[in-house]
Amino acid sequence: MARAVTRRFESTAGDVSTVLSGIDIDIAAGDYLALTGPSGSGKTTLLSCLSGLDQPSSGSVRIGEDDLATLDDRALAHLRRTTLGFVFQHTDLLDELTVLDNILLPAVRRRGRVSAETLEHTAQLMDRLGIGDLGARAAHEISGGQRQRVGICRALVNRPPILIADEPTGALHREATEDVLDLFDDLNASGTTIIVVTHDPMVSGRARSRRHLIDGRMVDPPVPSLLTTPMTSSNRGE
Ligand SMILES: Nc1ncnc2c1ncn2[C@@H]1O[C@H](COP(=O)(O)OP(=O)(O)OP(=O)(O)O)[C@@H](O)[C@H]1O
Ligand SMILES: [Mg+2]
Repeated sequence: MARAVTRRFESTAGDVSTVLSGIDIDIAAGDYLALTGPSGSGKTTLLSCLSGLDQPSSGSVRIGEDDLATLDDRALAHLRRTTLGFVFQHTDLLDELTVLDNILLPAVRRRGRVSAETLEHTAQLMDRLGIGDLGARAAHEISGGQRQRVGICRALVNRPPILIADEPTGALHREATEDVLDLFDDLNASGTTIIVVTHDPMVSGRARSRRHLIDGRMVDPPVPSLLTTPMTSSNRGE
């Protein structure tokens, strides 16, 4: 999916910082990958490159058969609308719209209307994440954790085959995090590819594979500490 991806930013003073260096990552259909790493290591930048929101300075990103660099803006927007659901780290809702209208916006953009089936699907998603009674509220009236769950429902409203989620549970308490993780498990079991960035071991522990970024480079995930990992006959070397 990503080959030798680098991303450099140039400041107004002309300084160049390299935020991603030679990232190779293969994500097969149906994978469930957790991406971890310290703050500033490049996780959000990588997700932006993987989803076509940003363009690498060099290297290539493919989604299915499409090399993103070969697509014009229209084709890229179409691919993103039909293939990707994106949960942003800082949920960007339209504050003057209701919660329900925010969630339905990708469906309206894609099809120009909202079907009864989409409404039903949306109600189920909202119920599962504990925000079923918030549909009529203005988006500026809800809490940070509620906004985050609205952002997750919005990313899923079009049933995207690929879900990319940047810290989707950062503002959630444990119970709501579990609701989100149960939903992700069900989506993945029915074929949705999931890429999730997280600082929370409870979230990364539920994924099927893990990659770790440090200073813009992929490294092996940290080895679990022997102090916190219960000894078993296998890790004792027996
Ligand atoms: N548009 C930009 N212009 C300049 N530098 C940027 C830009 N976007 C990100 N960076 C820099 O790239 C580095 C990585 O940022 P990024 O947001 O990808 O980190 P992150 O791993 O997602 O961190 P966090 O866990 O805090 O969300 C940071 O040093 C950041 O300042
Ligand atoms: Mg980030």
